[in-house]
Amino acid sequence: MTGRKKVEEEYLEVILELISEKGKARVSDIAGKLGISPASVTEMVQKLKKRGFVTQERYSPIKLTEKGTKIAEIVRRRHDILKAFLQLLGINDEVAERDACEIEHNVNQETVKRLTSLIEFIQHTQESQEWLKKFISFHKERILSGEEF
Ligand code: FE2
Repeated sequence: MTGRKKVEEEYLEVILELISEKGKARVSDIAGKLGISPASVTEMVQKLKKRGFVTQERYSPIKLTEKGTKIAEIVRRRHDILKAFLQLLGINDEVAERDACEIEHNVNQETVKRLTSLIEFIQHTQESQEWLKKFISFHKERILSGEEF
């Protein structure tokens, strides 16, 4: 996957997030969320506009087109599933959030479907919850023993 696709997906995801949180997506808020300058955001928004993912009237908030919304929602779903999977493995929220954001752009849809089923399977079967607890303590013991891996 190219870097451009990753950047586009990340922007669309953040725009969708801002629209659901604040009702609108402004350049300054996008810049804040991504930790970059408003000038870089403005430049990228122009590219997203040209590619038909967003619309923006002068001095108005950014809106997602149907095409942009579709991509943003897919990325968001992938993000949520990956994060839930990582949390299930016992990874802390902050790391799970960051890693999900990295993996979400490079993961096959089939993998996401499998992970979704696996999460539901674990949540709904007693046996697998016990298995998961054992796995987490197995991992902790490995860490405590100072084993390098
Ligand atoms: Fe993300």
